[in-house]
Amino acid sequence: MTFRLNEDQLLIQETARDVAQEKIAPLAQGYDERSEFPWQSVKYLQELGFMAMMVDEDWGGSGLDTLSYSLAMEEVSKACASTGVTMSVNNSLYAYPVETFGTNDQKEKFLRPVISEKLGAFALSEPDAGSDPASMKTYAKKEGDEWVLNGSKMWITNGGAASYYVVFAVTDKEKGHHGISAFIVEKGDPGFEIGPPEKKLGIRASSTTPLSFDNCRIPIDRLLGSEGEGFKIAMKTLDGGRIGIASQALGIGKAALESAIKYSKERVAFGRQIGKFQGIQWMIANAAVELDAARELIWRAAMLKDAGKRYVKEAAMAKLYASEVAVRAADMCVQVHGGAGYSNDFPAQRYWRDSKITAIYEGTSEILRLVIGREVLGKF
Ligand code: CAA
Repeated sequence: MTFRLNEDQLLIQETARDVAQEKIAPLAQGYDERSEFPWQSVKYLQELGFMAMMVDEDWGGSGLDTLSYSLAMEEVSKACASTGVTMSVNNSLYAYPVETFGTNDQKEKFLRPVISEKLGAFALSEPDAGSDPASMKTYAKKEGDEWVLNGSKMWITNGGAASYYVVFAVTDKEKGHHGISAFIVEKGDPGFEIGPPEKKLGIRASSTTPLSFDNCRIPIDRLLGSEGEGFKIAMKTLDGGRIGIASQALGIGKAALESAIKYSKERVAFGRQIGKFQGIQWMIANAAVELDAARELIWRAAMLKDAGKRYVKEAAMAKLYASEVAVRAADMCVQVHGGAGYSNDFPAQRYWRDSKITAIYEGTSEILRLVIGREVLGKF
């Protein structure tokens, strides 16, 4: 497998870098400090078609490959991790399942608008079902020509900003994970409420809310895929989502590395720029090596997905490693900055706060080790 980017991919990378550095980066700190949803940054990405990069051109998407998506995610997240996760959820967790499992009518109504205008979200986790979504309690019952949903969801990225939600609910309690189905719920559906935004350690500009369904009635044709297919849809969707979050982590890690390099050339201590000290050089060297290795894992997973091959293990490896590397790089960045890294005057503190979530959402490091372990050991 070769890791040479083609001309289209290089162009996407350059375009993403330009918009991220020139337009999104200057807004990032302000959005973070105000915990304000980054609508302006999202608009820049919608104009470029980056909010639904892999959706087929027939549905108004850009029809690009996963590697291009990863390149763009890295650049955007380097500038603003909150915008990065907003973009990732719209692309991987909303547009992907609707395009892959939806009917043409559903795509017309619920996919086309999220290309350049509206946003989507993915509602799997619940207060008592995070790493173990098969134990979800949200329940959907067929009544005449409607589905009636009851229950609640938690930690929903884009929760307050989305217009459409892919929601998972139990339709047959007796069948375990084979009794889970997926639905499309629209903002404004009767009985559907969006809760207040969570106050978070990092990615503060992104929208994270609970959702509740109190006899929420939706038309029968909002079932996504077949009845009982929901758990498979969730798992397949998360495989692709993990490539997006791994790329987000890589972007945060790269931003931290570049910031540490810049500061180490400016800051003088003991009569020399601190970058001349071996202690600092080794910290920077470790991060540089780990981030390059993470990128290789991400690109491998993306290329396997683009080739139509199985990539469950590779996506899990990429997210596990990239997220843990991002956390270490961000920590190194704060350390290199010393006291300055602890203040709001430098972005180091934001990278440190933003990096941590990448090792938690869309599969914690512990769940990913479980997935990789099962894949590596195989059936025995
Ligand atoms: N692709 C397709 N099918 C899959 C699959 C995959 N990657 N992984 C599992 N399955 C299928 C299995 O084949 C099995 O199907 P059959 O019964 O038909 O054979 C079925 O799913 C159940 O598999 P398991 O027995 O392995 O399931 P499990 O209950 O033991 O759980 C798990 C497996 C890997 C731990 C899974 O529960 C998991 O991934 N947990 C983490 C959930 C997660 O990532 N949540 C993130 C929330 S979303 C979020 O964070 C988004 C956000 O807003 C940013």
